[in-house]
Amino acid sequence: MAKKKIVVTGGAGFIGGNFVQYMVNKYPEYDIYNLDLLTYAGDLAKHKDIENKENYHFVKADIADREAIMALFKKEKFDYVAHFAAESHVDRSITDPGIFVQTNVLGTQVLLDAAKQIGVTKFVHVSTDEVYGELDFDPTTFFTEETPLQPNSPYSASKASSDLLVRAYHETFHLPINITRCSNNYGPFHFPEKLIPLTISRVLNDEKVPVYGDGKNIRDWLHVIDHCAAIDLVLHEGVNGEVYNVGGHNERTNLEVVKTIINTLGKSEDLIEFVADRLGHDKRYAIDPTKLEQLGWKPTYNFESGIAQTIDWYLENKCWWEQVISGEYKKYFDQQY
Ligand code: NAD
Ligand code: DAU
Repeated sequence: MAKKKIVVTGGAGFIGGNFVQYMVNKYPEYDIYNLDLLTYAGDLAKHKDIENKENYHFVKADIADREAIMALFKKEKFDYVAHFAAESHVDRSITDPGIFVQTNVLGTQVLLDAAKQIGVTKFVHVSTDEVYGELDFDPTTFFTEETPLQPNSPYSASKASSDLLVRAYHETFHLPINITRCSNNYGPFHFPEKLIPLTISRVLNDEKVPVYGDGKNIRDWLHVIDHCAAIDLVLHEGVNGEVYNVGGHNERTNLEVVKTIINTLGKSEDLIEFVADRLGHDKRYAIDPTKLEQLGWKPTYNFESGIAQTIDWYLENKCWWEQVISGEYKKYFDQQY
């Protein structure tokens, strides 16, 4: 029997990269295709351990390049699409929204057309809890799959737009889709522009850590491997057309997160520097994952064990993060402050 083919878009980035490794190792009977443009956020150094495996393949392409993507899908006849590729950083969407529409909205529509053209078994669109907007600080309130979409940043607006297109391709063309909406991820290979890896890398270098506003905004943290397991489950068991929220009930203020990292590394809290708040900064995100749990998913990390493992990983993999924060990223960071 022919091997099943899974194309993972954005497989050179943080979550897509972890997902590619998870699938290559778990399913030797599948061919895994990593489709990525290798923007500033993508690198292939993270795939050294799998690059020579028979079931791993890399294709460099822009998901918004209609001609290239239609031709690739026609040639390879993928069975499954796990769509992670995106511009993912909220701060960048505030300074340069255009590329977010180009990649996240138009790129998703090109992929939907390509998937429709060949008739895939499943298209999983990896989205975000940020499409629901923000919650206030009442700890009994959560985002459910029924929460109305109210995105506040150009990033989350572009993700919400792509969610609506994915939904429409199911309603109009019966494309077998699922949409997943996950809370904040952390773990190995997280690009150091995001709060957790930024804090770890800067504290290790005895550099100040910029905390936006008063540091009281809350995020709901999930280890990336728990997210990968959720996508694997939805890919195989998700009911067509359904949305699944992904989260592990690990709410922390930004200040708590930063202090945990500083204290674990035995450094001084004087490294914290309060800076101007992010424009339109969402107060709180918190996920109700009941629907996904009913499908059979359960997170394996709590925040304490996950953050300790992640800090160890950054200590052991300094060469990876030093390499990705040199060059273009360094120029970007220096322009922020
Ligand atoms: P990331 O920025 O680390 O990686 C994005 C990847 O997409 C990179 O490898 C990049 O090269 C690639 N890419 C960008 N534009 C492309 C294009 N035009 N064509 C092909 N490839 C392109 O992102 P991430 O944090 O791993 O997020 C992955 C997905 O998960 C995104 O869709 C994001 O919205 C979603 N998500 C992220 C989080 C989180 O906490 N990071 C939480 C929930 C959902
Ligand atoms: O909720 C899921 C989302 O989580 C994903 O959809 C996004 O792709 C991902 O980037 C992430 O968005 P956030 O904006 O929540 O993540 P970020 O790491 O940029 O910021 C986390 C919190 O920390 C947020 O409240 C802003 C704050 N922050 C961030 C940075 C980079 C700081 O205080 N200082 C910083 O330097």
